Amino acid sequence: MLPKSQFAPRLLKWYAQNGRTLPWRNISDPYRIWISEIILQQTQVKQGYDYYLRFIETFPTVFELAKADEDTVMRLWQGLGYYSRARNLHAAAKTIATAGVFPTTYEGVRALKGVGDYTAAAICSFAYGLPHAAVDGNVYRVLSRVFGISTPIDTTQGKREFSALANELLDPENPGNYNQALMDFGALQCTPTSPDCASCPFLGECVAQEQEIIEVLPFKSKRTKVTDRYFTYFYLHTATHLFLHRRPAGDIWQGLYEPFLIETKAPLSLDAALQFLPKHLQKGTVRLVAQDLKHLLTHRRLHADCYAIALPDGTPPPDGYMAVPLNERDEYAVPALVMRLYQSLQAPKLAL
Ligand code: ADE
Repeated sequence: MLPKSQFAPRLLKWYAQNGRTLPWRNISDPYRIWISEIILQQTQVKQGYDYYLRFIETFPTVFELAKADEDTVMRLWQGLGYYSRARNLHAAAKTIATAGVFPTTYEGVRALKGVGDYTAAAICSFAYGLPHAAVDGNVYRVLSRVFGISTPIDTTQGKREFSALANELLDPENPGNYNQALMDFGALQCTPTSPDCASCPFLGECVAQEQEIIEVLPFKSKRTKVTDRYFTYFYLHTATHLFLHRRPAGDIWQGLYEPFLIETKAPLSLDAALQFLPKHLQKGTVRLVAQDLKHLLTHRRLHADCYAIALPDGTPPPDGYMAVPLNERDEYAVPALVMRLYQSLQAPKLAL
């Protein structure tokens, strides 16, 4: 087994040779580091990279972000998913702007809306060199494999054990690089499936590799249950306008916009779906745009059928919806699923 004192030096050597050059690295501005960490909470680097650059370009400091209106923030976030991250970011920016400075202690950073243990540790180690290990799925995977730990990671005991070990292994002279190195090592070398063991700096001492138990680590006591939700969208439009509404609090996609929606517990036929429309909207020309579009969220599998209905000019929108000029449609942030619906609208017509 690898002596614990050997872990950080070996990891840092690997990082010096293999680490990625990323725009939020080797900087000390806590605001930029914070933005990058929130984007990367549930998003891979490849996907989040351009979002980060656009965000920083639009809001170079926390004061610009604090002053922005929510729709502008949501529009920049559009497509990244987990939209509560954007709302929390905006709320925290206002708190920081009111205080006048970014918090400089772990407790102060951890108290920001949307910042958990992992993100606080990442920000404080990168920006201020504070000795906190950032422990996420990557770290569970790497440590469980290298040291052969099978404590389930979805238990309080597991979380405590891995966090204690990650902090024990941390290089106190170099906490920022240690955390960045672990992130890259988990993302590039010790990947969830088919890790590159042949070129691994821990080869020969990695318990999981020796015992051929890489695939079962990290261990989870239970798998998350996924439930299905069925959406029927009606893209209700006239020659000039489209009807949209803003999704309310308390469910996915809060604050994003979408066309007329009916949600049911099982798939719905067109005839049944039409009954949910106010009478004056049932008269237009209906066309099928997309059938059973699937969209995966953490605990949900969404299935969406989409129809477009062309209505006479001047038709009023249903209650709770607003008429948006078609040429302003893209100013309203929509979930990725609705973006796919928009794209399908341009595809060749489907027969009903
Ligand atoms: N994932 C979360 N934070 C990260 C960072 N700073 N660099 C690369 N990947 C990350």
